[in-house]
Amino acid sequence: MADDGVTVKYFLPESELPKAWYNIQADLPQPLPPILHPGTKQPITPDDLAPLFPMELIKQEVSTERYIEIPEEVREIYRRWRPSPLYRARALEKALGTPAKIYYKYEGVSPVGSHKPNTAVPQVYYNKQAGVKKVTTETGAGQWGGALAFAGSMFDVEVEIYQVKVSYETKPYRRLAMETYGAKCYPSPSDRTEAGKKILAEDPNSPGSLGIAISEAVEACVKQGAKYCLGSVLNHVLMHQTVIGEEAMKQMAMAGAYPDVIVGCTGGGSNFGGIVFPFLGQRFRKEAPKPFRVVAVEPSACPSLTRGKYAYDFGDTVGLTPLIKSHTLGHDFMPPSVHAGGLRYHGMAALVSHLKELNEIEAIAVGQKECFEAGVLFGRTEGILPAPEANHAVRGAIIEALKCKETGEEKTILFGLCGHGFLDLPAYDKYNSGTLEPDATLSEDALAAALAKLPSV
Ligand SMILES: Cc1ncc(COP(=O)(O)O)c(C=O)c1O
Repeated sequence: MADDGVTVKYFLPESELPKAWYNIQADLPQPLPPILHPGTKQPITPDDLAPLFPMELIKQEVSTERYIEIPEEVREIYRRWRPSPLYRARALEKALGTPAKIYYKYEGVSPVGSHKPNTAVPQVYYNKQAGVKKVTTETGAGQWGGALAFAGSMFDVEVEIYQVKVSYETKPYRRLAMETYGAKCYPSPSDRTEAGKKILAEDPNSPGSLGIAISEAVEACVKQGAKYCLGSVLNHVLMHQTVIGEEAMKQMAMAGAYPDVIVGCTGGGSNFGGIVFPFLGQRFRKEAPKPFRVVAVEPSACPSLTRGKYAYDFGDTVGLTPLIKSHTLGHDFMPPSVHAGGLRYHGMAALVSHLKELNEIEAIAVGQKECFEAGVLFGRTEGILPAPEANHAVRGAIIEALKCKETGEEKTILFGLCGHGFLDLPAYDKYNSGTLEPDATLSEDALAAALAKLPSV
C-alpha cells in the first residue's frame, strides 16, 4: 500500500498477535560470549542459575532456536493491549519541516504504560508454572516494578520490589500503583538486606542505583527461597520484547514502508532489542528488502555503550550475579540522578553489546535537557507525553529527521516510543520551570576509577 498522505495509525487485528518470540541468537553472525560463574570464571550451567530462575526461562536464556512459541495463557493477557499501534508522526514531521517519514511504535498503551509487561507477564507465568509463590525484583523509575506487580496480580504470585531510592522519593505514583496491584515496595538501599546495609554504612544518603537494587533483590530472593525477575539485560528478556518488532514489521508493511533507520533508547537494552532484533534477523538472513541503520540512544550521564569498556562484569553493585560480557561503566559506578531512572544502569545487555562490537548497530549519548526539549515538542505535536527514557528515542529520531532536512533525503525513520510519561510529570515540571539539573557528563577520571574495579577474568 502506498502512503495515502493522511493515515496516522496502523492497527493489526488481535488475530495478528505474534504466536512466537524471535530469538536473535539463532541468526547472530558470531555466537555470544558465554555468561561466566563469578567464582570459577567458567561458563555457567543451568544448575548455577536454578536458585534464581525457573528452568523454562534458563532454557530460553541459552536457546538458539529461532522462534519460541508464546504460551496461550500469556497471549491471552497480551491481547488486552496488543498488538500495540504504529503511528506515523505527521504532525512532528511538519513541525520539524523534514522530508523524512517518521513512524513510532507505541508501547504506552499497556496497562502500566510501558513495554515492560511484555516480559513481566511471561516471566511470572513460567514461575507460576514451576510452582513459585513469590518473586523479587529491582526497579528504577517504577515502570518495571509496576509491570511485575501487574503480572503478579494476573497469576496470583507475590511480588517484592526494591526501588531505587531517588525514584521512590520523586515518583510516588508508580509506587502507589505497585502497591495497589498488591506488591510490596521498598526504597533501595534498604536495611532489609546485607547488601543494602553495606551501602548505607558507606553512604547513609545514597540515592541508590539499579545495580544496588539488583543486589538487594537477588539477596532477598535467595534468602527467602523465592525466585528473581530481571526487567532488562538478559537474553530471554530481550526476546520477550520482540513482539514489538514482529508487529512493527507487519505494520510498516501496511504503510508500504521499510525503515532506513531504526532508533531506540537503551538502559539495559530491552525495548531497543525488542523493536530492532526482528529487523536485524532479516538482515542476517539476507531477507531485508534494503540496508538500514540502527541507532541506540543513551544518556550522556550514563553512557555504557558509547564510553563503557567491553568486558566481563557483574550485573549488580555488590557482585552477586554471574559475569556478563558487555559494555560496562563498572559495577559500582554511581550514575548521576537523571530523571530517566530506567537508563541509570552501569551495564548493557550482552546481545546489544555484542551487536555493537560487530558494528551492526551504532550508539549515541545525549543530554537530559535536549531530551526533554524533544519530549515537549513531541507532546505538543503528536499529543503523547513520553516517559523521560523514551524522550531519548524521540531525540534520536529528531536528530535523524533534521539530518534529512539538511540533505533533502526522504528517509524512513522508525523509533520505539516505549512508554508514556504521565507519572513522570514532576520531571517535566522541573524542565518547564527551568530548574532541571544541568547535564552531567561523566568525567574521564570518574570513568577510569569505576573501570579499575572490573573483576579480572
Ligand atoms: C519507559 C522505559 N523505557 C526504557 C527503559 C530502559 O530499559 P530498557 O533499555 O531495558 O528498555 C525503562 C526502564 O525502566 C523504562 O521504564
